[in-house]
Amino acid sequence: MFTIHKFSNVNSTNVQASNFPIGSVIVAKEQSQSYGRFNREWVSSKGGLWFSIVLKPVRKICEYTFVASLAVFDAIDKVEIKWPNDLVYKDKKVCGILTEIISDGNKIEKVIVGIGVNVNNKTPEIGISIKEITKKELDLDTLLNKILKNFHRIDKLGLDTILRLYKKNCSMLGKYVTVKTLNGKYKGKAIDIDSEGNLLLETKEGIIRLNEGDASIV
Ligand code: BTN
Repeated sequence: MFTIHKFSNVNSTNVQASNFPIGSVIVAKEQSQSYGRFNREWVSSKGGLWFSIVLKPVRKICEYTFVASLAVFDAIDKVEIKWPNDLVYKDKKVCGILTEIISDGNKIEKVIVGIGVNVNNKTPEIGISIKEITKKELDLDTLLNKILKNFHRIDKLGLDTILRLYKKNCSMLGKYVTVKTLNGKYKGKAIDIDSEGNLLLETKEGIIRLNEGDASIV
């Protein structure tokens, strides 16, 4: 299914993954320069599950994030999917997903799906670990294998099914939210997520589509 390469310390598994062939999974105990969306700092101390999957580019980029979200969702109890790329417990981040492309000029060569799960590690204020939620330590290899197995299974499904499952388990749909985007802050009811990964927000000015943002339920 996947070939797993384990490291004790790397700068970022996403950076390392770009040197590996399709089908590889790069896992590290610690990352010294891990990052999230918009190059934001991502804290990855020992005890967390930090890994990246190298994939063949056959889907739209957002679809890989949908598949990864569902793979993690199915492997962990008590979490909810938060658009666009998080899994949360009571609005605290348990998992963050960063999907990137490696291209050679015009051609996309690989897709790298980076997944960070707070498992037994200490987290910054915005995060929470599975250990804090369940009061139990979790074996990192067992969790990694579960997530990879789920990923492999879900990646075989069609976009319609994947999107239906993603939306079903996305906590903010149907709720009033504020979304901070690079272009400003928006308020409204989160009514849908489209097949391009946009959040549809029903605002006083009408329905708008957001392709990125940090959302919180009002
Ligand atoms: C985010 O919340 O914006 C996404 C965070 C993604 C973090 C993971 S940890 C494994 C991989 N390596 C990185 O440097 N980032 C991703």
